[in-house]
Amino acid sequence: MQRLMTRFLLTLAASLLLAAVAHADDVLATVTSPDRQLTVTLQATGDGRLAYRVDRAGKPVVNASRLGLLLANAHQLDGGFKLVSQQTTDRDDTWEQPWGESRFVRDQHRELLVQLAQPGQGDRRMALRFRVFNDGIGLRYELPEQPQLPAARISDELTEFDIAEPATAWWIPAGEALVLEYVTQRTPLAEVGLANTPLTMRTRSGLHLALHEAALVDYASMWVRKVSGQKLRAQLAPSAIGAAVEKRGAFTTPWRTLRITPSAAALYESHLELNLNEPNQLGDVSWFKPGKFVGVWWEMHLERSTWHSGAKHGATTANAKRHIDFAAQHGFSGVLVEGWNVGWDGNWVGSQSAFDYLKPMPDFDLDNVAAYATAQGVKLVGHHETGGNVARYEQQMAAAYALYAQLGVEVIKSGYVTDTGTAQFASAGGGTHFGFTESQEGVRHMLKAVQDAAKHRLAIDTHEPVKDTGLRRTYPNWVSREGARGQEFNAWGDPINPVGHEVDLVFTRMLSGPMDYTPGIVSLDGARGRQLNSTQAKQLALYVALYSPVAMVPDLIEHYERWPKAFPFIKDVPTDWETTKVIHGEVGELATLARKDRRSDDWYVGAITNGSARRLTLPLTFLDPTRRYRAEISRDGDRADYRDAKRRFDLVVEQRTVRSTDTLPLKLAAGGGQAIRFVALPK
Ligand code: NOJ
Repeated sequence: MQRLMTRFLLTLAASLLLAAVAHADDVLATVTSPDRQLTVTLQATGDGRLAYRVDRAGKPVVNASRLGLLLANAHQLDGGFKLVSQQTTDRDDTWEQPWGESRFVRDQHRELLVQLAQPGQGDRRMALRFRVFNDGIGLRYELPEQPQLPAARISDELTEFDIAEPATAWWIPAGEALVLEYVTQRTPLAEVGLANTPLTMRTRSGLHLALHEAALVDYASMWVRKVSGQKLRAQLAPSAIGAAVEKRGAFTTPWRTLRITPSAAALYESHLELNLNEPNQLGDVSWFKPGKFVGVWWEMHLERSTWHSGAKHGATTANAKRHIDFAAQHGFSGVLVEGWNVGWDGNWVGSQSAFDYLKPMPDFDLDNVAAYATAQGVKLVGHHETGGNVARYEQQMAAAYALYAQLGVEVIKSGYVTDTGTAQFASAGGGTHFGFTESQEGVRHMLKAVQDAAKHRLAIDTHEPVKDTGLRRTYPNWVSREGARGQEFNAWGDPINPVGHEVDLVFTRMLSGPMDYTPGIVSLDGARGRQLNSTQAKQLALYVALYSPVAMVPDLIEHYERWPKAFPFIKDVPTDWETTKVIHGEVGELATLARKDRRSDDWYVGAITNGSARRLTLPLTFLDPTRRYRAEISRDGDRADYRDAKRRFDLVVEQRTVRSTDTLPLKLAAGGGQAIRFVALPK
């Protein structure tokens, strides 16, 4: 009897324990991807704290990771939640990009909307929306308008990402002086500090992941920092004036996204963040035409001329016209002239900046230059450097856009050069205060600039921007950004960009959207003896590898004249694509991209490598099997090597006739590349 009793008690204890364990992580809801490979599970602990986990083919990708928001003005949105309802919906449609690296994008996902309440907080409501695609997930918080929380002052976000398998990470630091302009670090994921996104990972079993965000609107940019082991937590870019994010009424947060793919190629080809953005709100944007532009630019970075006034001023009427002639002669659609306006004299960075966006320098006849350009079928590319003085720019923005529109400008390159935390914003009660460009204020300003520009049919290419989160879908006049270490570092950087930099960009920065990198420095030299870590062929291949609908042809006119063999590919390569395929991809090692021109049957290939020379095979299966093509190949010569002052210029240009059943050998030199145009021959 006693034995029976003991057994009964033991069984009871075991089941109580089981119940407690089950209770400790009650599953509230699950949702799977359309192909059933990915599963997201939402669970709650006994005290109603929320966590989500992600599994792929039954194996954990993200361990149970916390969800929640900390508020400065009310009890936290963390814990005490109970499930109110849940709803799942399926979607599968294809939408068209007005311009892009692929014309059509398939949006196939399953959505789970979970309504939650906090009974202990006056029954406050919050929803979580998950979208699960075959190649990743997005999740966001949604707060309705409610009397219990008329305004939310979000001091921090508790969203965590606890990556299950040991992984290597490629990342750049966040919150440091040079916003986003750092050399990519490769470390074990467990050694990430405070990082910006996209943060790319490769797990021990070969999964490729990228942590990022989508639809960053009226919210602070998300950084991530290590909590412990491989667990990262969201950290919102700080505000100078209060909580990181201030909201009134109903609001949604940006999507927190994780691409989950079996290869580097699939990681790049994913359109996760674009799919999570709202559709085009501008309607017909055919007034924006993708294209290439030359300009008065590299000469200043080389210190041959200056932005400021004086004997060496670069933006003179004569110099601008020389570039317009060159553009017209070679079929480039735009000419950028930096240093054209008043404000470059003295310290133009940060609080000292005093730009005037309506007043040209005395030696630059703006009306005359614009008319000269128009007469030659070329457009001026506008330039608005703000030095980070957002307050001053906002005062002049409307008039400055109106002026440019009247002069026939179609694209404006804007800039926010200043150290992190020293942008200047207008204060509510008058005056200005310092802040971060990545703060909610900065995010708000940059989108407002784009929205206002759209009213004048102007497109924006933001330098020193807030990172791209796919907003080009909603606002297709936000055509490009810098947002990483660009070619300019090769002119004056200390250090210049390392040899693997552009390959790193393909699988990190480029996941977020187009980049105005300014490839095509065929002279391969920066200022004061700096030698680019690149062969000449690689500079050509970068036009295909680093996508932007507006691409600069930045080298000096005399340099293109000096290297005529390198020039035809740069002239021919388009900047708008029907489709894109990654043929070879290994993060940090190499990338070969094939893209089909949107306006012809031609294909273009760009292959780039880091410091290692490679022999690869390029299968031509992407070509139309019913056609023959003339392959116009620009490749590293047999002796090419980026380290050698002479041999880095060893470029071979040759032609072959090929079909889709052929393969081409790709021989890439150390620091090299290869660029190929496939011209479709008449049937
Ligand atoms: C930094 C930009 O990236 C560069 O392209 C520009 O020339 C300078 N700022 C001056 O605006």
